[in-house]
Amino acid sequence: MNQAKNSIDDTSRRWWRTDVVYQVYIRSFADGNGDGTGDIAGLRSRLPYLRDLGIDALWLNPWYRSPLHDGGYDVADYRDIEPRYGTLDEAEALIVDAHEHGIKVIADLVPNHTSSAHVWFREALASPPGSPARNRYHILPGKGDGSLPPTDWTSVFGGPAWTRLDDGEWYLHLFDHTQPDLNWENSEVVEEFKEIFRFWLDRNVDGFRVDVAHGLAKDMSYPDVGGVTGELLSNAKTAGHPFWDRDAVHPIIQGWRSVLDEYPGSMMVAEAWVAPDRLPLYLRKDEYHQSFNFDFLSAEWDAEEMREVLTTSIDAAHEVGAAPTWVLSNHDVVRHTTRYGLPKGTDWRAWLLDGPHDILDAELGLTRARAATLLMLALPGGVYLYQGEELGLPEVWDLPLDVLDDPVWEQSGRTRKGRDGCRVPLPWTVEGMSLGFGTGDSWLPQPEGFAALSVEAQSGVDGSTLELYRSALVERKRLFVGDESIEWLDAPEGVIAFRRGSGVECWVNFSAKPVPLDAGRTHVLASGELTPNGELPVDTTVWLA
Ligand code: GLC
Repeated sequence: MNQAKNSIDDTSRRWWRTDVVYQVYIRSFADGNGDGTGDIAGLRSRLPYLRDLGIDALWLNPWYRSPLHDGGYDVADYRDIEPRYGTLDEAEALIVDAHEHGIKVIADLVPNHTSSAHVWFREALASPPGSPARNRYHILPGKGDGSLPPTDWTSVFGGPAWTRLDDGEWYLHLFDHTQPDLNWENSEVVEEFKEIFRFWLDRNVDGFRVDVAHGLAKDMSYPDVGGVTGELLSNAKTAGHPFWDRDAVHPIIQGWRSVLDEYPGSMMVAEAWVAPDRLPLYLRKDEYHQSFNFDFLSAEWDAEEMREVLTTSIDAAHEVGAAPTWVLSNHDVVRHTTRYGLPKGTDWRAWLLDGPHDILDAELGLTRARAATLLMLALPGGVYLYQGEELGLPEVWDLPLDVLDDPVWEQSGRTRKGRDGCRVPLPWTVEGMSLGFGTGDSWLPQPEGFAALSVEAQSGVDGSTLELYRSALVERKRLFVGDESIEWLDAPEGVIAFRRGSGVECWVNFSAKPVPLDAGRTHVLASGELTPNGELPVDTTVWLA
């Protein structure tokens, strides 16, 4: 267990600066008991697969007790495990097992809202207006004669952000109506979350991904926003917004950080959709250790735009002494294999429902996705992978409407299809019920094409996407970790090239024609085959030693 020793015992190493974190959407990873839903037992049985893939840490989407109206981001009890996933004992055993495999564990904490099934919200409902139990949430009388919501705020999932209670008061929910927002000016709320952090740190989790980290603080004078909708990102770019990215969020973060500092080697990473000039505030030395960088994920397949995003992301992180982070897919966005197969400028969220679907070039998407992965893995900083991207899984954009589970579908008045297409259970085998995900049907149906992309179908197959990831993760450790420097190289138009401290270069061809490479260098790895005369084809990345 040398590997375990290196990565777990050395708490002085700031592991998150370089580690590759693999995101597990438990519900869709592996089903250990055959009920169609992924679970902790399934995940434990697949730890050897993850170790062999070469990842350093897991980020587990919320596994707490939950009605699963929003895939577990509606938490009913932060100190217990959802029974469909397993038990608290199993969760503790998973953490031990993961550590034995040399893998750290990052839990997902959801502080902006609870589930409406949380005991606090049930207490609030049973208590009169103005009571302390109601003060833990944002529960107010309506406007005018009370029949209008307190403000014009809209939910990120669509529709109004307020729902009326039977007694006439209204409660705030920036997401689904089953996710009431907590009042972070309430000291009980503040103290409770510090205890929740401690609860999981005492069970040896190594870190936290903090959900909607730029939310929490609300303007308690409840002003109207005047027609700005509830998009996570666009609102965040509006200065002085009543609920996104308010200065009052920072003392809350500092309170958590002081708890984490009692546990050396632990970290927290922010899901903060804020303007680039505001992000460094979250990374001050008494706040988050790290933040996701969604600009890379949002960039078009274009050399100029990519280079701009890469340099600004690296500079912004380094300015505050943080390491940059990179992510191409997660449980909230259209998988990058599909995004890269759509024409430039396509609104991929809207495209899921509205189409036209024949504009998708799936083969091109996979080619570019592989190139983007090798680009990402050559960069300095931490990397987040989303389960299934190592198989080149596409978005399942054509899920039948009657199986959709994401609350976005209903909350948007059935105008947005939502995020189920990136949450379809993983294919492990070529045959069998739910392709080895479990022993029965899976909670979302897998498309036919998944069998050929299964772990079994790709294992040991030269040139498969899975083998590309496996090799790339080994080589990344050898060549790119331990030195954060990067030097940009002159390259032909439409090509990005840089050299890392080890002397190894990464070249990515975004242009429309193959480009010659330095014949004196060896190819460590390429995302696709080079041309017969050794040129770098379009939409391809190569690492040169
Ligand atoms: C975050 C999560 C998303 C969830 C939302 C509400 O954006 O990533 O899945 O729906 O928060 O908790």
